[in-house]
Amino acid sequence: MMKITVFGSGGWGTAVSKVLHENGHDVTLWSKFEKEAETLATARENPLLKGVAIPAGITITTSLRDAADGIGLAVIATPSFAVAETAEMLKDKLPADCIVVCVSKGIEKDTCRLFSRILRETLGEMVKLASLSGPTHAEEVGRQVPTACVVASEDIKVAEQVQDIFMNDYLRVYTSTDVIGVELGAALKNVIALGAGISDGLGFGDNTIAMLMTRGLAEIAELCVALGGRKSTLAGLAGLGDLIVTCTSQHSRNRRAGVLIGKGMDAQAAMKEVGAVVEGYYAAKAAYELSQKVGIPMPISTEAYKVLYEGKSALTAMKDLMSRDRKREWDTAEETWVG
Ligand SMILES: NC(=O)c1ccc[n+]([C@@H]2O[C@H](COP(=O)([O-])OP(=O)(O)OC[C@H]3O[C@@H](n4cnc5c(N)ncnc54)[C@H](O)[C@@H]3O)[C@@H](O)[C@H]2O)c1
Repeated sequence: MMKITVFGSGGWGTAVSKVLHENGHDVTLWSKFEKEAETLATARENPLLKGVAIPAGITITTSLRDAADGIGLAVIATPSFAVAETAEMLKDKLPADCIVVCVSKGIEKDTCRLFSRILRETLGEMVKLASLSGPTHAEEVGRQVPTACVVASEDIKVAEQVQDIFMNDYLRVYTSTDVIGVELGAALKNVIALGAGISDGLGFGDNTIAMLMTRGLAEIAELCVALGGRKSTLAGLAGLGDLIVTCTSQHSRNRRAGVLIGKGMDAQAAMKEVGAVVEGYYAAKAAYELSQKVGIPMPISTEAYKVLYEGKSALTAMKDLMSRDRKREWDTAEETWVG
């Protein structure tokens, strides 16, 4: 049995706590907010994860000391905008050889840092880092729906340790050493899901969604390789798997926000209407900035950025995507998609 704290008490943090508790670990769920912690502790249900009871054995706290002292593993499960501040809060507070597993998905706004980099720069060399991602809707993992995910660490032994800790009969965990690929897939599929929602909101069809997903994956893969990740990772659970679930599922907030934007609502109003963090909004800016910086064309993410941040009409964005230069789909010599 390991002492584990999940930092971040939203839908995913709550579902992950339940998995780890059911795997026999001593689990604490840390919330930043007193009122939220009180509600969770009394209702034993997260309003963001209705119908999923929080087992009595999970301790809920806002105390950093109670949450960090003596733990063997910390899970970072805050919304993306809070990962850096959570890392700062944990600086010098975690035991030296603690495993830190990031399950948040995103890229830091403004700096474009991947979360593994934020955590390494802030927490130092002693902690063991891993990133866990894949098609894992909290609503379904909370109900023990058969699910698979991937955990990546530069050190395969750390990935295997995390695999052992998280895996059970409803959650399969695969390992990888491609942290960049796993983190980029996790963050950038949300932008494509927003685009898929916009397409639906505009009244387009399944063909359009399939086009956005396939060509969206191609542009993410190109960026991934340019940043040092592996293309094959994007064909796996953290890439294709997560893209499918985020672009097609009723649970996807990114897609739901996109539908509202496609119907004419502005981005801020759409996010308010969805009522929860729409990670793709932040990731679109990071994707746009990274594509400019690295010089990799990312046409779908760029159009999404223009719709979200520059007020470009969604219909004009789609027309501009459809009238790009003619391309081959695949560069056979290079074994790569053509951007
Ligand atoms: N929901 C899912 O199905 C799911 C699945 C896999 C990964 N993720 C990723 O996990 C992360 C969290 O997602 P979620 O769905 O739990 O989000 P959420 O919208 O449910 O999280 C809201 C919660 O975040 C916490 N929070 C808000 N501001 C905070 C701060 N400054 N510091 C610490 N905590 C703060 C609050 O407890 C709040 O209740 C995201 O990056 C998301 O992409 C979500």
